[in-house]
Amino acid sequence: MNFLLTEEQEMIRKMVRDFANKEVAPSAAERDEEERFDRAIFDKMAELGLTGIPWPEEYGGIGADYMSYVIAVEELSRVCASTGVTLSAHTSLAGWPIYKFGNEEQKQTYLRALAEGTKIGAYGLTEPGSGSDAAAMKTTAVLDGDHYVLNGSKIFITNGGIADIYVVFAVTDPSARHKGVTAFIVDADTPGFSVGKKEQKLGIRSSPTTTIIFEDCRVPVANRLGAEGEGFKVAMMTLDGGRNGIAAQAVGIAQGALDASIEYAKERKQFGKSIGAQQGIAFKIADMATKIEASRLLTYQAAWKESEGLSYGKESAMSKLLAGDTAMEVTVEAVQVFGGYGYTKEYPVERYMRDAKITQIYEGTNEIQRLVISKMLLTD
Ligand code: CAA
Repeated sequence: MNFLLTEEQEMIRKMVRDFANKEVAPSAAERDEEERFDRAIFDKMAELGLTGIPWPEEYGGIGADYMSYVIAVEELSRVCASTGVTLSAHTSLAGWPIYKFGNEEQKQTYLRALAEGTKIGAYGLTEPGSGSDAAAMKTTAVLDGDHYVLNGSKIFITNGGIADIYVVFAVTDPSARHKGVTAFIVDADTPGFSVGKKEQKLGIRSSPTTTIIFEDCRVPVANRLGAEGEGFKVAMMTLDGGRNGIAAQAVGIAQGALDASIEYAKERKQFGKSIGAQQGIAFKIADMATKIEASRLLTYQAAWKESEGLSYGKESAMSKLLAGDTAMEVTVEAVQVFGGYGYTKEYPVERYMRDAKITQIYEGTNEIQRLVISKMLLTD
């Protein structure tokens, strides 16, 4: 077993860290305050090839592995969790299902545009009445000649409104529950497609989250992703990888909070010495670092397994569960290390704490991760 990163992975980490520090970090607090997505940052990520890390060059990607991808999400999230999730949803939730289930034409048209970063991707599964119970969705798709007519709405869409391409799920056979779900690729400029309410959120505020609405939205049959009735499998398999992207985001948030805490613990003096030289804070730092390292190893293991073609669904659920809980714990502790200052916007740790919470909720709550893991362990 070798825990060393390859030269390529190290190079990607260095490149993304430099980019994150120079181009993303300086505006992170302001974008959070203003709830403002900055397309220019996404465009720069595209120039660096970050929008297509795991996709082959023939589809516009850079042909690197999933480890390199999670490293990129981690490094972005270390300074700005919103930028981290923009890339994660774009890659794992929109690019991945097209790469795995798309035909050659769909890959050349849609995956290429996503990989090259000329277009942004999003994923629409959740509905007002179906969150954890994803198969209970109500959005319908009715075949009419060479189109499907979609009606319904999806909520909590990461990259909603800024995305050009949406991978969405709708019911083609209402009598068949999950076996009646079909996946589609929907262009944002399709008549009948519109973007609804933008959520005002606790955290990841510079990543837009919206409702999307389908009103007699005519999607060409050519945009069906996979076979009719295969959509629930597409949705679940997509989330298997997506959850590891969120784990990487959580690791990055926690690491950012730890880095800030270490710096502060060395500088801040009370009782005649730095607070880091006092056991109450020193032990907190040790616990924070240990939990982050465990989360990182699980996240990298799941990514490595995916790159090796091994099954990774259980590990991905585990990595999201551990890393999400860790990010929450570590960021709460980071605020504590900073004391009163941590509670103000003078330092970034309150933002990290607000951003961490969503990692325990989206792409399946951590309760759903426990369900997924236990089912795999207990079902023959
Ligand atoms: N891979 C492949 N197939 C899978 C699978 C997987 N990971 N998980 C389930 N399936 C298949 C099962 O094998 C089964 O297939 P058969 O009928 O052929 O046997 C079928 O799917 C149904 O499986 P279940 O009976 O286990 O399904 P369920 O209805 O009980 O639901 C669940 C299982 C795990 C709870 C699922 O509903 C789930 O993951 N819920 C959470 C949804 C979620 O994560 N939502 C987040 C949305 S994205 C988001 O957060 C927004 C964003 O933009 C970031």
